[in-house]
Amino acid sequence: MPIKMLTLEDLELEGKRVFLRVDINTPVHPETGKLIEQARLEEAAETIRDLSGSGVVVASHQGRVGRSDYTSLEAHSKALAAILGSPVKFVPDVFGPAALGEMGSLKAGEVMLLDNLRFTAEENMEYKPKEAEKTFLVSRMKEHIDACVLDAFSTAHRSSPTIVGFAGLVPTCAGRTVGRELRMLDRIVSVEKGPYVTVLGGAKVSDRLEAIDALIANNRADKVLLCGLVGLVFLKAAEKFRGELGIDGEQKHLLKARQLLDDDPDRFAMPIDVAIKVDGGRKEVDVKDILGQAQPMDIGAKTVERYERFIKGAGTVFMSGPPGAFEWEEFSYGTEHLLRAMASSLATTIISGGHLSSALRKYAIHDQIDHISTAGGALVQYLAGKRLPLIDALERAAEKWGGKESGTL
Ligand code: 3PG
Repeated sequence: MPIKMLTLEDLELEGKRVFLRVDINTPVHPETGKLIEQARLEEAAETIRDLSGSGVVVASHQGRVGRSDYTSLEAHSKALAAILGSPVKFVPDVFGPAALGEMGSLKAGEVMLLDNLRFTAEENMEYKPKEAEKTFLVSRMKEHIDACVLDAFSTAHRSSPTIVGFAGLVPTCAGRTVGRELRMLDRIVSVEKGPYVTVLGGAKVSDRLEAIDALIANNRADKVLLCGLVGLVFLKAAEKFRGELGIDGEQKHLLKARQLLDDDPDRFAMPIDVAIKVDGGRKEVDVKDILGQAQPMDIGAKTVERYERFIKGAGTVFMSGPPGAFEWEEFSYGTEHLLRAMASSLATTIISGGHLSSALRKYAIHDQIDHISTAGGALVQYLAGKRLPLIDALERAAEKWGGKESGTL
């Protein structure tokens, strides 16, 4: 069903101060702390360029509290300025006096970037829209802005204040990334065919587990190929892996994985071998032979071969989250080979998440994939047929601010 929402062309933004919620949450190298890629920054730049007649207050979250990628956005501001070829004023504050002061004096044509929104308690929580409007974050910021552009498609599944709080208070529309994603997905969904193979990897276990039931119910997971940390959770649930997972809510995740395996064992494929780090290098071992504290970092060659066969026989393949820690050359084998299998298959192919889109660029095969989305969990939820808070906010905004002329994406 077409989604009714406003675009940049539907609002009068010239000379106005615009709050632009993007998602430039970017993978950070675990050792050097440097930004690993800039796909989301490039997307954000497209909307910023199209707002050249406005004063633009760019805002994003980065990482999660307590994780190594929970960092300031200073490096992002430099990368963004380099992409835009024009200054981006970084303000190391979110809604304190420094940030509000800078917002208040921002002129048309200027771009500023606030610091990591998750440095504030409220942005780490989820709210109903009316409650979000009353948060300190939204109620203080709204005094300094004329309009809001929501372009954080990859955060569309989080009802945080800056995603759902402004639509009822100031004219709000979709940015270029949200528009493109929704148009592409609409097209993909109309041509996709079965069997539907879903490859679930990465480290965001709760996101993936939450979505599995809905993906299955929505006929988007005839076969689920498990890898990454998600794969280890299933292996442990099946008592095939005894090592430590060290993740939040481990027990709850194991119970869920066990229930899924008990209910429908044939739907899931688990790794049969993995790569571990030995003397700084890669060593492949069968899952049953993983000893002691060894932490699997990638799927092994036998698993890759088996998964490639499923991918070749698929009508549609959706991959979310990398199969291994591909940031390290010695653990990139699984990610590279499964992506290449998708690139050379005749199936409709969809790749989800910033990590995988940067891996595709690294292997120079991004033009052989039908849709590459920088969204991870949000895209999983979209394909699972769930309502996304950001899209709801845009629909509410179209009702409130759009009048008869509002567009349909
Ligand atoms: C993502 O990378 O999926 C988005 O930036 C959302 O991040 P989150 O899962 O930490 O909310």
